[in-house]
Amino acid sequence: MSLIPRRLEWFLIGQGIGMIVGFMAGLMTLQSSYKEPTLDPSSSFERTVPVHASLPTSNEQKCRPLLWNETKAAFKYIYDHYINDYDWFLKADDDTYVIVENLRLMLLAYQPTEPICFGCKFKLFTKQGYMSGEAGYILSRAALRRFAEIGLHNHSLCSAEQRGDEDIRMGQCLEGVGVRAGDSRDTYGRHRMLPFMPEAHLDPGDRMVGHSFFPAYTYYRYNQGQNCCSDYTVSFHYVSKKTMYAMEFFFYRLRPFGISINCFSSWQKDVTYEKLIEMATDLSRKMQGPDQTGRNTS
Ligand SMILES: *[C@@H]1O[C@H](CO)[C@@H](O)[C@H](O)[C@H]1NC(C)=O
Ligand SMILES: *[C@@H]1O[C@H](CO)[C@@H](O)[C@H](O)[C@H]1NC(C)=O
Repeated sequence: MSLIPRRLEWFLIGQGIGMIVGFMAGLMTLQSSYKEPTLDPSSSFERTVPVHASLPTSNEQKCRPLLWNETKAAFKYIYDHYINDYDWFLKADDDTYVIVENLRLMLLAYQPTEPICFGCKFKLFTKQGYMSGEAGYILSRAALRRFAEIGLHNHSLCSAEQRGDEDIRMGQCLEGVGVRAGDSRDTYGRHRMLPFMPEAHLDPGDRMVGHSFFPAYTYYRYNQGQNCCSDYTVSFHYVSKKTMYAMEFFFYRLRPFGISINCFSSWQKDVTYEKLIEMATDLSRKMQGPDQTGRNTS
């Protein structure tokens, strides 16, 4: 049993919790709806997550109408080739910024054998809610299995259409095959998966969020401003390339001198890897959203 290095950050990036996230880049790149390509291969994703960027997609010009068809094809491909290799499968846009360390932390409280999905939950079109495409969504291995083995073959559960909004149809399909729509908020009810860029959520006066679909769609109460977002936020969306560079710098390099918010300092001494995973799992359980622990108030 080896002793752990001083920074858990290093751990969560490099070791152990491991390659639990499959990522499908490229799938949702809609040339028409983005101003600039934002997939930056030097982002934290590459350091931490196996990226499957060469999924089969139609050669026809991609456009929103066929998104559901392509989503089904991509998840089928992932199922055929990777179902046994990973525990969790993430779909994200190329302008979604994912803090992979926090994604892993969030998922530690769950077993991949549980049919569950996470994302930014919206309340329309389904009974249990569906995960907005914006902030990305995550399927457990069991959820992907149900989607592929049951859903793709049963058109009364999962639409046989090629067209339609991919996230809504996916949500209806997952509900149909018995995949639970999880609560990705933290224990304080702060959101961890967010459909806009950080500045839009954090600035209480920003008009983008309030004037969007979000207030009418969000499944859970949401407070714009500093309480919008969890200390363990997992994802933001509509993140420009410029902002991605800034976020990389803020998250992984900038150290305000004299300020330490290293919550692992008490964990450091002589802690084994197994012990560390145990503590991280404990933290993950403590941070679970109110719906997951039966404490829901909203
Ligand atoms: C829909 O996806 C299938 C692959 O599952 C593909 O063969 C077909 O060409 C797609 N349809 C369109 C119109 O792109
Ligand atoms: C599809 O699912 C429905 C609802 O669970 C079920 O009643 C039906 O038998 C299924 N159809 C097939 C072809 O499996």
